[in-house]
Amino acid sequence: MRITRSFLLLVTAGVLAWSCNPNELSDSPTAVSPDGKNSVTVSVNAEGQLQYTVLREGDTLIAPSTLGFMFKDAPELSKGLEVTKRYQMSNKGKWEMPWGEQKYVEDNYQELFVAAKETGEAGRTIHLRFKVYDDGIGFRYEFPKQPGWEEATILEENTHFQLTEDYTTWWIPGDWDIYEHLYTTSPISKINAISKQNHPNLAATYIPQNAVNTPVTMRGESGLHLSFHEANLTDYAGMTLKVDTTTLTLSSGLVQSERNGYAVKRRLPFETPWRMIQIADKATDLIKSRLILNLNEPNKLGDVSWIKPTKYVGIWWEMHLAKSSWDVASGKHGATTENAKKHIDFAAQNGIGAVLVEGWNTGWERWIGFPDREGVFDFITPYSDYDLEGVVAYGKEKGVDIMMHHETSAAPRTYEQQMDTAYALMQRLEIGAVKTGYVGPLIPEGEYHHGQWMVNHYRKAITEAAKHNIAINAHEPIKATGIRRTYPNAISREGLRGQEFNAFGAEGGNPPEHLPIVAFTRMLAGPIDFTPGVFHQKLTPYKDKNQVSTTLAQQLALYVVIYSPIQMACDLLVYYEDHPAFQFIRDVAVDWDDTRVLNGEVGEYVSIARREKGSDNWFLGAITNENAREIPITLNFLKGETTFIMTQYVDAEDAHWDDNPGAYKINTMEVKKGDEISLKLAAGGGAAISFFPKK
Ligand code: NOJ
Ligand code: CA
Repeated sequence: MRITRSFLLLVTAGVLAWSCNPNELSDSPTAVSPDGKNSVTVSVNAEGQLQYTVLREGDTLIAPSTLGFMFKDAPELSKGLEVTKRYQMSNKGKWEMPWGEQKYVEDNYQELFVAAKETGEAGRTIHLRFKVYDDGIGFRYEFPKQPGWEEATILEENTHFQLTEDYTTWWIPGDWDIYEHLYTTSPISKINAISKQNHPNLAATYIPQNAVNTPVTMRGESGLHLSFHEANLTDYAGMTLKVDTTTLTLSSGLVQSERNGYAVKRRLPFETPWRMIQIADKATDLIKSRLILNLNEPNKLGDVSWIKPTKYVGIWWEMHLAKSSWDVASGKHGATTENAKKHIDFAAQNGIGAVLVEGWNTGWERWIGFPDREGVFDFITPYSDYDLEGVVAYGKEKGVDIMMHHETSAAPRTYEQQMDTAYALMQRLEIGAVKTGYVGPLIPEGEYHHGQWMVNHYRKAITEAAKHNIAINAHEPIKATGIRRTYPNAISREGLRGQEFNAFGAEGGNPPEHLPIVAFTRMLAGPIDFTPGVFHQKLTPYKDKNQVSTTLAQQLALYVVIYSPIQMACDLLVYYEDHPAFQFIRDVAVDWDDTRVLNGEVGEYVSIARREKGSDNWFLGAITNENAREIPITLNFLKGETTFIMTQYVDAEDAHWDDNPGAYKINTMEVKKGDEISLKLAAGGGAAISFFPKK
């Protein structure tokens, strides 16, 4: 092994890595994961198509699967290719997260590079790069600079994944506008995304094909788990996976710009996002994996100490309960100066770092359902009953930050026009984070939330905000693809069916299995602004036909299980005041040095323990679906030779997500590393536990 110049450069960037010299390879080059279990082979079939095969311990996971592209004004790039160059190299590395689930991430893989050229007249060249890790594989296409090919207008990417088993699959439809669907559990052969069209509670939805959105997770007969997704989605269209239920083939279905009649337009040279397959012997290993971050580029923002992980309360749930509203015309405006100050007082008294105020700015009178939303929202001008500067100053006095809110109503051009001024205002007021929103069908028509045009808009918000030291928490976002590594101000996002759905109409609520599925699907992509913490599950007197279908103890457990460096305590303050269980929310950390996934099965249950950043304090969350169960846990993660005060917030004997959701109890005892505990989770229940070293 030779220490390269890049080694020295990486060390100065806080990254440790070393690479071996490239090896020359045979005609069907292979790369193997460091543990020897996963391998990828690239070959060219009889028609001259590039194809790849993935094996795990000799078993074929992905049978030979072809690759290629269709273009608008050029012939398909698919057949008649020959390999002109190939090499393989190994990498061992480690990098530090500025915030995250753990302090250090290991980045060990073998890489395979293949260049191929059309033998025919067009003579175009395309490159493939695979990275093979212990926890899965990633590959991408690279379009190198070449004579006679300046720009590619891609109609479709033809990446195939030929499965070898009819896996049990947890999927949401391949909606081009929204990820806010419930998961369905079915074999691949029974996936019917079209049946999910026209959901009544979605302000924008478009499902044109039998396709799924990613991450999509599967379990095989042997217990092996796979999850398909993409990493580093940059200047490209989001990828759905089209499903052939007969041949069990998945293939890339790019979100189109119907306005322009293509999916992606790029000037050469460029690279596609990484197509990623997580591979795990057991479900819990999926959550431990940081493959998606390893497939992204290192931090480009430098010192990001201005990004603050925090808990927050807000003027938010009261709108979803219809207790108050975003707009003023209704006569029950929620974002008043007085209400904001009340929230600041509560936050200050309870060690909560920030207050989100929605509905503070003008424009809400022409929001959902109005076709012409361009130029309506104003991101600078508060309603007359809200003293923005006064509220911010009051928060400063009390040590509480305001979290800004920008609902764009899916009119991104209006937002882009005001972006600079809006972020400059925030910077002047020292507001360090904004929750953005994109409710409704996109303007202009023919663009979709997950297409290239919007991928670039969401990225622009992140990079522009970074210039003003602002973190972004996007709702109705583009999916998380690990961009938080490169731009750590992409602090969290929605991109799933969040807590808000529990307050929506008849088909709104999330069933108890929802979060035990989310932990093994959406959460693999990155932090989730789920907004946990509902203590009053039945939602009376505001929405008495709706409810939150978990116990109170599960709502507490979500602070640990569903990862985000910003965590809302979303319920009305009145339900928190003097509530003994609120102590867990006061105590729980939001930034971590270590994460252990203790047990779990997709859609059933999961337990996760995390160690607070820079401390020996641990927090544990366990959640279950509609089935009550008892989970044994050995406290192996605790630091040795230390006595800990363990406080459990658990379901009472008679707790039940529907019959008795609020029944909980608090137990406190002393424990040490290696002690065994048993958690009794009610139907739809959970357990939240803090461990503090005894003083
Ligand atoms: C949808 C978001 O998910 C929700 O949190 C927000 O309150 C509304 N949009 C209004 O912006
Ligand atoms: Ca939403």
